[in-house]
Amino acid sequence: MKDAIATLSQQLDQALVAAFGPELSGTNPLLAATNNPKFGDYQANIALPLAKKIGKAPRDIAQGILDNLDVSAICEAPTIAGPGFINFTLKTEYLNQQLQGMQQSDRLGIAPVDQPQRVIVDFSSPNIAKEMHVGHLRSTIIGDGIARILEFLGHDVLRLNHVGDWGTQFGMLITHLREECPEALTQADAVDIGDLVAFYQRAKKRFDEDDDFKERSREGVVKLQGGDEESRKAWALLCEQSRKEFQKIYDRLDVELTERGESFYNPMLSDTVAEVNESGLLVEDQGAQCVFLDGFTNKAGDPLPLIVQKSDGGYNYATTDLAAIRYRVRDDKAERILYVTDSGQANHFTQVFQVARKVSLAPDTVELTHVPFGLVQGADGKKLKTRSGDTPKLRDLLDEAVARSRADLEKRLSEEERQESPEFINEVSTKVGIGAVKYADLSQNRTSNYAFSYDKMLALQGNTAPYLLYAFARIQSISRKGGVDFSQLDGAAIALKEAPEFTLAKHILRLDEVLEAISEELLPNRLCEYLYELSKKFNQFYDKCPVLQAEEGDRLSRLMLCDLTARTLKLGLSLLGIDVLDRM
Ligand code: ARG
Repeated sequence: MKDAIATLSQQLDQALVAAFGPELSGTNPLLAATNNPKFGDYQANIALPLAKKIGKAPRDIAQGILDNLDVSAICEAPTIAGPGFINFTLKTEYLNQQLQGMQQSDRLGIAPVDQPQRVIVDFSSPNIAKEMHVGHLRSTIIGDGIARILEFLGHDVLRLNHVGDWGTQFGMLITHLREECPEALTQADAVDIGDLVAFYQRAKKRFDEDDDFKERSREGVVKLQGGDEESRKAWALLCEQSRKEFQKIYDRLDVELTERGESFYNPMLSDTVAEVNESGLLVEDQGAQCVFLDGFTNKAGDPLPLIVQKSDGGYNYATTDLAAIRYRVRDDKAERILYVTDSGQANHFTQVFQVARKVSLAPDTVELTHVPFGLVQGADGKKLKTRSGDTPKLRDLLDEAVARSRADLEKRLSEEERQESPEFINEVSTKVGIGAVKYADLSQNRTSNYAFSYDKMLALQGNTAPYLLYAFARIQSISRKGGVDFSQLDGAAIALKEAPEFTLAKHILRLDEVLEAISEELLPNRLCEYLYELSKKFNQFYDKCPVLQAEEGDRLSRLMLCDLTARTLKLGLSLLGIDVLDRM
């Protein structure tokens, strides 16, 4: 109800000025939604902190405000409670009218922002020749959710996959490839990523154990960076093989990304370092080119450097991120850049951002934000492992979620003696399985570690994807049972009557507040909480208020509430990358 909040804030400001003078204009009215209907819908706490300033009792200040306040267009007469809280209860007509507006809009009344921003979301970003692991899965799911929400709000979002496709490991990989499977260089599809990961491990083992190989690998890096054609070809082949495997995961998750790996910035690294040098901040330390950082010291208390060029002349992960910021600001014209990675990279980003600011690669008007998340753990709170003790492959993890969701569905179908087509069973188990994995991740506050549990994520009760998908399907079944076409309800009037209707309606109307908060705080779990509460409130309403059996006027009004709930669920879930099902 951003609209109500805006009206109340504006009117409070005017009243404050009228009652106590123009110098109070712009004072924060401390307006917040109440958690308890006893105190109305919103409460303004402004009178309390003003008591000292004005030299009057808070209740008198509150009274002074009320004497000058006109919110009758949207509220019942405001009341004063306790030490001087002002309580507002929205008028029923106002609520009816807002709901109606939502009902008639295909964006559920949520207008795109007035000032769209150019936002880059840097997420997923696995490393070539290494397996995409659960950390990348988290980044992919959370990054996609954030991107979807910002896109819906009207921002211009560039989704970038900053894949690790450059660096010294390629010397080792290419050398190994050339020596172990030369046929890969002449023949398409000679290695696949399953092999490629094992391939990486073998190369690494040789690298660690065999000094000659190590030396050849070093030369390999130099050759690759020098643009040697065969090395380039080997590199491109390794990238292509990885890319194909990564894409399979993105397709299953329905995630879109533009790949722009580390290699893209390679030609810009020396210019970036030159620019750091021009700023006068570049310092040589033990042969490496560095920038000393504020707030980072070693045990002895001496400032720590960020290395931007190693003593052998090579560049590193940080140099690439500096070049990326430079390019994203200057060429992509980004105004906000979000990096979705595990919290383990927090220092890296703080340091890179600090240097980017000092060196003016990013002006203060450009927001640089690390969006960290915690570890994925097994149900036992330890590192996530397969039964055989290995790190699970993402493909297997998604397969298992779908297989378990299929088993749950088949069990239910047989209990209910329902016959369904194989297509139905496939669709439902895939959408529920994948949706459950996504939702389980998104519904956690991303900053905490999260315990991966198939049982929990697939449970029909609680804050899970299946619970929300059920609520949606349940509403669709009302329309089927009653022979009601929700899309034809336009023009009917919503008239709230019973308490559960009010509770549900007021919750529905708060979607805009929730999305706005998420666009600032980047916490998709808030949307999950909102949708979970919505489903619960819907179920309470549906238990207490007859819909299809109600009298004509009530029936239409309640059907519209049902439809609004369903559409809110559908929109909300779609912003989390989850598809709804009409039947399940
Ligand atoms: N490839 C990195 C990793 O797997 C993540 C890259 C994140 N993005 C960035 N601009 N550094 O840890």
